[in-house]
Amino acid sequence: SSYKIAVFVGSLRKDSFNRKLALALAHLAPPEFTFEHIAIGDLPLYNQDDDGHQAAEVLRLKSEVSAAQGLLFITPEYNRSIPGVLKNAIDHGSRPYGQSVWGGKPAGVIGVSVGAIGTALAQQHLRNVLAYLDVPTLGQPEAFIQNKDDLFDDKGHVGNESTQKFLQTWVDAYAAWVKAHSA
Ligand code: FNR
Repeated sequence: SSYKIAVFVGSLRKDSFNRKLALALAHLAPPEFTFEHIAIGDLPLYNQDDDGHQAAEVLRLKSEVSAAQGLLFITPEYNRSIPGVLKNAIDHGSRPYGQSVWGGKPAGVIGVSVGAIGTALAQQHLRNVLAYLDVPTLGQPEAFIQNKDDLFDDKGHVGNESTQKFLQTWVDAYAAWVKAHSA
């Protein structure tokens, strides 16, 4: 069978390292996996008053997530947490109460930063949110990537062999995780 993955990149920046990492991961995945980038930059700011009439962009996000067999979060760390745009998207998908799209969708969490701890604290915050939303999230291997020396290009190539090998290990574990939870 085939697996459609809803990809969330936590940066809106045009030359985002995390967007490039997302491309690299897609290249390393088995052929039965397809990766669909979910737009989060055009979502309104979440407002509970709108729960009864969610914006078209929110309904689009929710239907894309519902149609996916897995989730992949690739996020920078902003001030030791996840970027607000990503939290906004997650909050939208969790509402109205009782109509969350997240529950049960297997997920991976990964990220790249310029700092030495490579998004570790952002990922930990994200794991907390996903746990509450009943999203089974791959625990190991963890992946904290520090961007150095043009590690990723915009075609999804990885400029360092040991990083490439490590990311292959990570993608293999992620693919197995998605399969196990979709069975
Ligand atoms: C950062 N950056 C950053 N890096 C980090 O390792 N820990 C942090 O807490 C922060 N905080 C932070 C806050 C804000 C508002 C910005 C704009 C940046 C630096 C960050 O790692 C760097 O900008 C990355 O390039 C962001 O990822 P993208 O946009 O390249 O995907």
